[in-house]
Amino acid sequence: MTIQRICCIGAGYVGGPTMAVIADRCPQVRVQVVDINQARIDAWNDADLGKLPVYEPGLDSVVERARGRNLHFSTDVEASIAAADMVFISVNTPTKTKGLGAGQASDLRWVEACARTVAKAAKGHTIVVEKSTLPVRTAAAIQTILEAASEGEDQPTFSVLSNPEFLAEGTAIRDLETPDRVLIGGDDPAAVEALAEIYANWVPQQQILRTNLWSSELSKLTANAFLAQRISSINSIAAFCEASGADVREVARAIGTDSRIGLKFLNAGPGFGGSCFQKDILNLVYLCRHFGLPEVADYWESVVALNTWQQHRIARLVVQKLFGTVTGKRLAILGFAFKADTNDTRESPAIRICRDLLEEGAQLAIHDPKVTAQQIARDLQQEAAPQPDALSGTGSWAEAGSVEDAVTGADAVLVLTEWHHYKVLNWMALAALMRKPAWLFDARAVINPEQVRAAGLTLWRVGDGEG
Ligand code: UDX
Ligand code: ADP
Repeated sequence: MTIQRICCIGAGYVGGPTMAVIADRCPQVRVQVVDINQARIDAWNDADLGKLPVYEPGLDSVVERARGRNLHFSTDVEASIAAADMVFISVNTPTKTKGLGAGQASDLRWVEACARTVAKAAKGHTIVVEKSTLPVRTAAAIQTILEAASEGEDQPTFSVLSNPEFLAEGTAIRDLETPDRVLIGGDDPAAVEALAEIYANWVPQQQILRTNLWSSELSKLTANAFLAQRISSINSIAAFCEASGADVREVARAIGTDSRIGLKFLNAGPGFGGSCFQKDILNLVYLCRHFGLPEVADYWESVVALNTWQQHRIARLVVQKLFGTVTGKRLAILGFAFKADTNDTRESPAIRICRDLLEEGAQLAIHDPKVTAQQIARDLQQEAAPQPDALSGTGSWAEAGSVEDAVTGADAVLVLTEWHHYKVLNWMALAALMRKPAWLFDARAVINPEQVRAAGLTLWRVGDGEG
């Protein structure tokens, strides 16, 4: 079975870049990405590559090479499914906000809607690939919906595969082009090999791992849970370093050079954000409780609890250092994205920290090179507006067009995202624009401490017991 036509449902952070790379590496395969969101599809088709809906370094040139050749974006979901011999489901699976499992279980309404659309529109034999992060055994639900459509003569038939995505935002193109591994889970060997053949166009065979469906689904949750656990572990030690006079970067280097531990993912910071880590762990927690393993559930839940604590801790610490009150004070927030090189703010630590500071009555001037003011307003659930009476106790925020604008008249600067631009700022010049005594809170430890101190600012760095 050789795949000629792929349809991907969902043109988001996962579907868009993944399909762009598949189309780029497999010119013989026609790849169509479909979405119900017309504005998103229009943006993917925009002649101006700067307007792509997802910002990823290198994505524009991949799209430029493949788009219009064998990569197409459309809202005609059913026609695209009907023409495809392989359909990827890459729709959003956020945590449920209400009902059974609220706050923990994944909301599968979009996945289920997709499965029903595939069941209705597919022709002939179709391989359906789960690409979205899904709770273990979701494939079974998809399979059941599809099987119901297969009954009777001349009806479509289906094979379901799990092919979790391990790309990280900001490095998506590199992760897709040179993945550590590709994981394909499934019970139909012919379908597994058909998908493996696609990846084999650029991924060495020994890096294409085949497993059963459930192992594949669980591996995705486990990989994210382990990665997030490392961040909570180092952040817990960062707090202890601050209390005890140690430096978390020295500790991280000392432990990371043990080859069993390794150096990656040991940067202390304001806590992890992004659409995956918290969602996947909460999912794991929910499933463990469901399967009667409360101790296991509690163990993983503590990783999220520590992350939330770290974010509140930083906000609290800013208030304490600024003489116990930030009411009416101007605070410059540098960075709103959940990490550098992305415009994504989902679960960004900046959201919780800014909300806490607004609650305390602060006036925030928020700068981010990629995040729009509209997005910030949605995340903070508050429109940008100047506060006429700064001491009224009501917090407010405004977008700052540049770092200079943000820090002018500010009592403190908070660095919340590690954008490269923030690492090379001239603190001597910036400090002169601030109200004294002025503070710099470097939650990412990316600013040169000597320069900041020479500029007369008082510095707090995450995990720095000297600060
Ligand atoms: C993650 C996984 O890395 C990826 O494999 C999976 O497919 C999706 O989830 P992503 O959320 O894009 O990717 O970002 P990642 O680079 O993993 O960072 C997640 C969060 O952890 C960010 O907020 C980042 O700032 C934070 N982080 C990461 C740290 O605080 N310290 C570190 O050492 C590493
Ligand atoms: P992810 O990070 O998992 O890619 P996103 O939210 O960025 O998540 O993208 C998911 C996309 O899936 C959205 O653009 C949304 O409009 C699309 N989508 C959701 N449900 C359907 C559906 N039934 N049919 C087509 N597209 C869908």
